Amino acid sequence: MVKTSHIEEQIIVNLARSLLYEKALVKLDGQFVGAKAAIAKISQNINSKEDLNYGEVFIRDNIPVMIYLLIDGQYEIVRHFLNTCLELQSTEFQTRGIFPTSFIEVDHHLVADYGQRAIGRICSVDATLWWPILAYLYVQRTGDQDWAIKTEVQIGLQRFLELILHPQFRDAPTLYVPDGAFMIDRPMDVWGNPLEIQVLLYASLMSAASLIKIDLEKKNSTQSDDFRQFQQHQFDYAVAWLKRLKRYLLTHYWVNNKTIQVLRRRPTEQYGESVTNEYNIQTETIPHWLQDWLGSQGGYLIGNIRTGRPDFRFFTLGNCLGAIFDIISPEQQRSLFSLFLRNRHSLFAQMPLRICHPPLESQDWRLITGFDRKNLPWCYHNGGHWPCLLWFFVLAILRYQSRYGDLSIDGSYCFEILLEESYQVLLERLPQQKWAEYFDGPTGIWIGQQARIYQTWTIAGFLLVHQFLKVNPADSNIMNLPNIRTLELM
Ligand code: GLC
Repeated sequence: MVKTSHIEEQIIVNLARSLLYEKALVKLDGQFVGAKAAIAKISQNINSKEDLNYGEVFIRDNIPVMIYLLIDGQYEIVRHFLNTCLELQSTEFQTRGIFPTSFIEVDHHLVADYGQRAIGRICSVDATLWWPILAYLYVQRTGDQDWAIKTEVQIGLQRFLELILHPQFRDAPTLYVPDGAFMIDRPMDVWGNPLEIQVLLYASLMSAASLIKIDLEKKNSTQSDDFRQFQQHQFDYAVAWLKRLKRYLLTHYWVNNKTIQVLRRRPTEQYGESVTNEYNIQTETIPHWLQDWLGSQGGYLIGNIRTGRPDFRFFTLGNCLGAIFDIISPEQQRSLFSLFLRNRHSLFAQMPLRICHPPLESQDWRLITGFDRKNLPWCYHNGGHWPCLLWFFVLAILRYQSRYGDLSIDGSYCFEILLEESYQVLLERLPQQKWAEYFDGPTGIWIGQQARIYQTWTIAGFLLVHQFLKVNPADSNIMNLPNIRTLELM
């Protein structure tokens, strides 16, 4: 590993900051409304031909941007971004409560995409789930409770909860979504109850309930009874849902070497309330690569639970968020980190981190993705490597260490080295490869065949890794949420 000198490092950090502040953030009426997904036309060649919707402000891509801005003390920009999204929250009958995937300025107005313009008409559920989370993180970091108790904010939260907590045709506490409803926004067999959506659901319910609680406590007697009663009702419902969801995720998604052996020996065709194989899953659906992947110490949250069709693929972001939001216990977090360490040649390789493992190949790729050339095996969402994911892992590790202590896991190769090496890879390769969106191939050494360059969340992700590792590790508390017990004490 060739270490970049301190001076070079500072030059790269300054470059990233100026790209973010001067090129990626966009203004409307003199105020920043968010950052576009990729900075077009810095280079004439790659981005200029066809930018599709990469010139738009995506809520999802703005999460690392806004977290970085919060750490950097740019509170007004974050608040204005939250307000802008809130104004765009749908009030239409069929989509009431959803936040847009992205938006763009056209003739001095913001035009939002709720899925009606997206490729394949995909609607991003994660964007809606991220809004209450970012709102909570903003209030927590700034202490701006006056913003939290604004009527518009509370009404936005109400609309959000009405969208989520309603009668449905199923009993499970998970959110059922179509294929591609999150960062992986193309057909990849991630329909039903994909992990990333469920962990975001957990955090968004927690965040929404906490923000309602602030309002209930602050405005004790001044609000109309109906409004207050409805808030209290939604609060209670959200807390009950949270408890069920956490239990459900730990029961159905968490696997390790021991639980797999139990799963493999379950009977099928059981009927009734107290059975061991609720989803009638056949042993043959449990893939053999898990033996090596898990080892004796490893554990992780699987990709999806559906009747007869669990998805054992490993999804990096959903797992990192499961740890960051404390859905899995400290002990389970250690198992998860140990799994990352064990499989570092796959997950980190030459460009951390791989988005999911293993990729869909051959007939699976043909049938499931519909011959999607962007998602060829080892490319893009299908096993590609995304530098914008590393900061989540870094945050999860540092946060663990600051809360639960030492993290030395069997063997000599420690996390400090893993994190430092990964950071050095970003330092060395990202400026060279123009802050590309993603990298292809089993090791991630090739720039993605259709990757945008000057991708904003690549830049913001790098700045966050630098911030956590080199400036202030204590900032890894930025995504801390309250826990169910604290919420209940009201
Ligand atoms: C692609 C990605 C999506 C991202 C968007 C903008 O559609 O799949 O996750 O939000 O680009 O960068």
